[in-house]
Amino acid sequence: MLFTDLPTPQALVDRTRLVANIDRMQKEADAHGVRLRPHAKTHKIPMVARWQVDRGAAGICCAKVGEAEVFAAGGIEDIRLPYPVNPRNAPRLLALMESCRVSIIVDHPAVARGWSDAMCAAEVTLDVLVKVDVGSHRCGIDPAGPQALEFLRLVSGLPGLRLRGLLSHAGHCYGAESEQGLRDNAREEAELLGRLADTARADGIPIDEISVGATPTARFSVAEPGVTEVRPGTYAYFDRTQVALGAAALEDCAFTVLAMVVSKPARDRIVLDCGSKTLSSDQPHGPWRPTGYGAVFADLDGTAIATDLEIARLSEEHAVVTATSGSTPLEPGDLVRVLPNHVCPVSNLVDCVRLVEGREIVDTLAVAARGKIA
Ligand SMILES: Cc1ncc(COP(=O)(O)O)c(C=O)c1O
Repeated sequence: MLFTDLPTPQALVDRTRLVANIDRMQKEADAHGVRLRPHAKTHKIPMVARWQVDRGAAGICCAKVGEAEVFAAGGIEDIRLPYPVNPRNAPRLLALMESCRVSIIVDHPAVARGWSDAMCAAEVTLDVLVKVDVGSHRCGIDPAGPQALEFLRLVSGLPGLRLRGLLSHAGHCYGAESEQGLRDNAREEAELLGRLADTARADGIPIDEISVGATPTARFSVAEPGVTEVRPGTYAYFDRTQVALGAAALEDCAFTVLAMVVSKPARDRIVLDCGSKTLSSDQPHGPWRPTGYGAVFADLDGTAIATDLEIARLSEEHAVVTATSGSTPLEPGDLVRVLPNHVCPVSNLVDCVRLVEGREIVDTLAVAARGKIA
């Protein structure tokens, strides 16, 4: 069956590109002796996680316990949650620990104590990493702050917890203005963690792991001294933001949305059937300041972007596209492919993705962990 026979909108995943993306990142990590632990929040599909692990990934990351439950049921044996999971989730985490290796992060004394109490009560030990804020100012301890060493001492001494190391996510790299900016982000991240690790080790606290991770910086992070693990997620599919940041070429982007023109109110305006419930409302990032809610491809083979078409506005089920040249030949009933700005929330909005080779549908994969936000 061809994807052109499907009702729209549909999420299409180019199998060749997906596998090439998985292989390329694995090779980069292997070449530097660094473990790759992909964040599965991008694809949310156990079979894709299995491909990543079979090709050499050390395990996967999930954000939420619900996601992890799906991947554990799908046979993934090593899952890290680089998210500040609250100890109220202890019963679910303990159940998860019966079927796979689990590790979490902590960045708050009361939370660390809560996990320690829960693990002691269950007479088990939980692997933890201390989350460090390397500049995105989301969560994590301040590595240069006076309490950093104190917190590491606390965590390393808590019964029921085994401190594995330090973990960070340089989310601020999405604001980088150049490739050099991304390189600098990766270096600063590794240096901040390295310094804190040295301080901890000098204090007698063993730090075996230094885990960093984001797709735009991953190719630089693997070469940074001291880094033991990288955790990119978006790299499996890539998206318009990654292209704008120079982390991927258009030909690497594996995930597109197939949409149909449903209205043409003016020569220079068409409406697609993929609104915010399909594309999400995420804005693009990147130094060339892309605008709009995604990029429309010039053809159904997804080889070039139609630079005169801008997805100017979204409502829930409508994408209003403006032809900046003054007119477009597209008419109601025509199909287009759209490259999302940020693929992760888009894949979370569909029940399944169609795996394609060219225009042929070769498989349909359930996005089994979609909506698992708890
Ligand atoms: C803690 C953590 N690690 C890794 C990642 C993966 O980063 P990226 O989306 O750039 O692949 C994320 C993304 O949100 C994250 O929050």
